[in-house]
Amino acid sequence: MTVRPILIHPDPRLKTLCRPVPAITDDLRRLADDMLETMYDAPGIGLAAPQVGVLARVLVMDAVKEEGAAPRPMVLVNPEVVWASEARSIYDEGCLSIPDQYAEVERPAEVTVRWTALDGSAQEERFAGLWATCVQHEIDHLDGRLFIDYLKPLKRQMITRKMVKLKRDRAREGVKV
Ligand code: NI
Repeated sequence: MTVRPILIHPDPRLKTLCRPVPAITDDLRRLADDMLETMYDAPGIGLAAPQVGVLARVLVMDAVKEEGAAPRPMVLVNPEVVWASEARSIYDEGCLSIPDQYAEVERPAEVTVRWTALDGSAQEERFAGLWATCVQHEIDHLDGRLFIDYLKPLKRQMITRKMVKLKRDRAREGVKV
């Protein structure tokens, strides 16, 4: 497993509608392994393929947050929200592609998601709480949408300017982004 570099906003690859995965292959399994490794290393609770520059509909997540609880690494291929609750909840969201920036985003409190697992089987599960927010945030990535797209333009522009500066500073220091 390899930790892959995470793209930082703004980047056109983070604004792209990703293509469905046509088949489960060894390459896809390797990608999923690397994405989990990259997510845990960051550390984060979710990561979408476009964040490592792969424009395919794959995401990984593990939103177990209780200290000492067993991890629950999940890989979702071609995930789809098939039901969303009318009840909404607000979370202070962040993103590995927008380091150190957080903002409140309102989303459906619960969602049912359908996806293909790495063994090719069809899966469906209802998510609530942090899991619901996380899976919606990651599916947004597959549609080229970032959490800052839900914010008012002024706030979004402020964060984007900070990220442009961050990328410039990192480039100057020779850090690959
Ligand atoms: Ni994100």
